[in-house]
Amino acid sequence: MGARDMERQALNVYRMRLLGAQVHGAETGTAVLKDAVSETFREGTRRIADTHYIIGSCTPVRIPPRARCRPHSAQLHVFCNQTVDGDVTSSHNVPPGFYDRRDVFVKIVSWMTTNRCNLKCEHCYQDASCATAGELSTDEARTMIDGIARAGFDIMIFSGGEPLMRPDIFDLVAYAAGKGLRPVFGSNGTLIDLPTAKRLKEAGACAMGISLDSTNPEEHDRFRGVEGAYDQTIAGIEACKQAGLPFQLHTTVMEWNRDQICDLTDFAAQVGAKAHYIFFLVPVGRGLNVEPEGLSVLENEELLREVMRKSKDVPVVVKPTCAPQFTRVAEQIGVPTRFTRGCLAGLTYCVVGSEGIVRPCAYMTESAGDVRQQAFDDIWENSPIFKLLRTRDYSGTCGSCDYQEKCGGCRARAAYYHNGDLLAQDDYCAYAQKLPQAQVCC
Ligand SMILES: C[S@@+](CC[C@H](N)C(=O)[O-])C[C@H]1O[C@@H](n2cnc3c(N)ncnc32)[C@H](O)[C@@H]1O
Ligand code: SF4
Ligand code: SF4
Repeated sequence: MGARDMERQALNVYRMRLLGAQVHGAETGTAVLKDAVSETFREGTRRIADTHYIIGSCTPVRIPPRARCRPHSAQLHVFCNQTVDGDVTSSHNVPPGFYDRRDVFVKIVSWMTTNRCNLKCEHCYQDASCATAGELSTDEARTMIDGIARAGFDIMIFSGGEPLMRPDIFDLVAYAAGKGLRPVFGSNGTLIDLPTAKRLKEAGACAMGISLDSTNPEEHDRFRGVEGAYDQTIAGIEACKQAGLPFQLHTTVMEWNRDQICDLTDFAAQVGAKAHYIFFLVPVGRGLNVEPEGLSVLENEELLREVMRKSKDVPVVVKPTCAPQFTRVAEQIGVPTRFTRGCLAGLTYCVVGSEGIVRPCAYMTESAGDVRQQAFDDIWENSPIFKLLRTRDYSGTCGSCDYQEKCGGCRARAAYYHNGDLLAQDDYCAYAQKLPQAQVCC
């Protein structure tokens, strides 16, 4: 098999893994990709669906039309009579430009629409309160969205501050949808009544991410700094349900709610959420003030194991966020997860601040560029910070770690604790610290 065929085959295997398939083709000559195919169709990832290939046939073979029509019963036998060269996710096998293959990876951008917010959360990384003077105007936001679409992004998260406090939010969601992006939200949920949920859906919003930090209303309100926030958020969830607008729940983990996390996952399932995203505290903005109330490295490890085990038994997707080590944990304890890479900052993900500054993630202060001065797609392609992150040339424990391609360490924490060095080791890792609890594979 030639080098080009090898690369194509490796890409196909990787793509299938990305979609959650167990690929055994290299060893057995056959694999069933039922889950991958149904996942593809369910998610409507049209570009991937259109170019689904059968692994191992060095000439790509398209999925038979019958399988396309009946995705949930589709079973594809995958023939692979050549050995795939090890794990294509390991760095020495990742071809140059691998993370730029838009036919393989879903690219996500999060826009902090405004710094304005109606809540006063203790941990807010954005230090949100009032709008700042230099926030992007509607026209500037449209120009930015043009650049995002040109750069081949798939999903645009409207976040904040509280995005529903921007009066032009419906127009901008519609504009993004018109450019082929999937608009989704990060919201505190308190401002979503039924007409708003319907209007968002009509504008083209595909899903709402709604923050809920406790099963106990008083504790949620205390953390969010406003009495009654819990009830308003629950009403927002109800409104989404009634409007048929898909939603997921977001919870930030602190010491005080650590024991409620799995209950909140159950709650997410009970109210019909699609997913429960569990945010691990990053000490930036007001998060700095509550850093001592975050989890220790060991507590982090134990919770990751608990939630990944839990993920097997619930009908919602469970995803730890800003704890890239979850990909290692999932592999160690044999829990399948559709997420094959931990830290995505600068690889397939970036954020734009409310004033138009592009950064690799919301927790990093380093600017990659300013959309008022330079087109977003130009920044995405050419910013030195993104280029540096894409080398994935990590140092310290991350540099010598067996899981570095899967995990990547949290680049924001690495920079924060190592004088801005984006490629430094992530100290928030029990595996790197050789804690016995992180070495066990069960
Ligand atoms: C900044 S908020 C913006 C969207 C919306 N206002 C909300 O609260 O959901 C996005 C998410 O990040 C979480 N978050 C805020 N500060 C954080 C921090 N320092 N570390 C980790 N997650 C944080 C919030 O709880 C929320 O779920
Ligand atoms: S976390 Fe969200 S709701 Fe809370 S203050 Fe920050 S932006 Fe507002
Ligand atoms: S050492 Fe780094 S790459 Fe390895 S598991 Fe820890 S954070 Fe991830």
